[in-house]
Amino acid sequence: MPETEDTRMSNVPDRTTFENAYTGKAPWDIGKPQAPFVAVADRVTSPVLDAGCGTGDAALFFAARGHRVTGIDFLDEPIRRARVKAAERGLAVEFLVKDALTLGDWGERFASVIDSGLFHVFSDADRRRYVEGLAVVLRPGGRLFLMCFSDEEPGTEGPRRVSRQELYDGFADGWEVESVQRAWVEVNPEFTDVTFSEGGPKAWFAVVRRTG
Ligand SMILES: C[S@@+](CC[C@H](N)C(=O)[O-])C[C@H]1O[C@@H](n2cnc3c(N)ncnc32)[C@H](O)[C@@H]1O
Repeated sequence: MPETEDTRMSNVPDRTTFENAYTGKAPWDIGKPQAPFVAVADRVTSPVLDAGCGTGDAALFFAARGHRVTGIDFLDEPIRRARVKAAERGLAVEFLVKDALTLGDWGERFASVIDSGLFHVFSDADRRRYVEGLAVVLRPGGRLFLMCFSDEEPGTEGPRRVSRQELYDGFADGWEVESVQRAWVEVNPEFTDVTFSEGGPKAWFAVVRRTG
């Protein structure tokens, strides 16, 4: 069946979906950053924004490397948990409850943005608004490091699949897509309700430079 706005929208999670996920341990909450972010760590420069940071593992990883990091999530509970982790580890990360769709109204500016599973939660319209906001907060020359579910992952369980072309289309004006590589999302092993591909759901890991 060809994909239409309606079929795409059926995979767009609402706020309640995330609130329910955080009543327990969320499937994506693996206690460490996804591997591709670790692999590119040397390319990440301060200040860093982790957009849709969840319980903060990527933000804390970059803070432990000496970066100035802000993590935002639109829900109280993951931000509460992230702040507890930061205090336990003695790391100074600014964790804020903030909607990533409001980035365009924000006065903060960053040299790097981490997106570990946020872009793929948005509808087409919200995706455009998010990218417009990223263009405001990311300094010219700064980079976005983005991991999303790939259209090569079979089925419809979990988040929306994103094609390589959608990444190029989404970051067409004022951006240069430097690379889009195959990756695999590591999922919390306690989460057995859904079976993904062997080795984890197939993903894209993109590095996108702000040129404008
Ligand atoms: C798939 S989870 C990934 C969490 C984290 N980045 C990680 O890799 O573990 C997506 C996160 O984005 C958050 N989120 C969803 N929509 C958001 C929005 N509009 N603004 C900020 N955070 C949002 C959710 O609450 C959730 O924590």
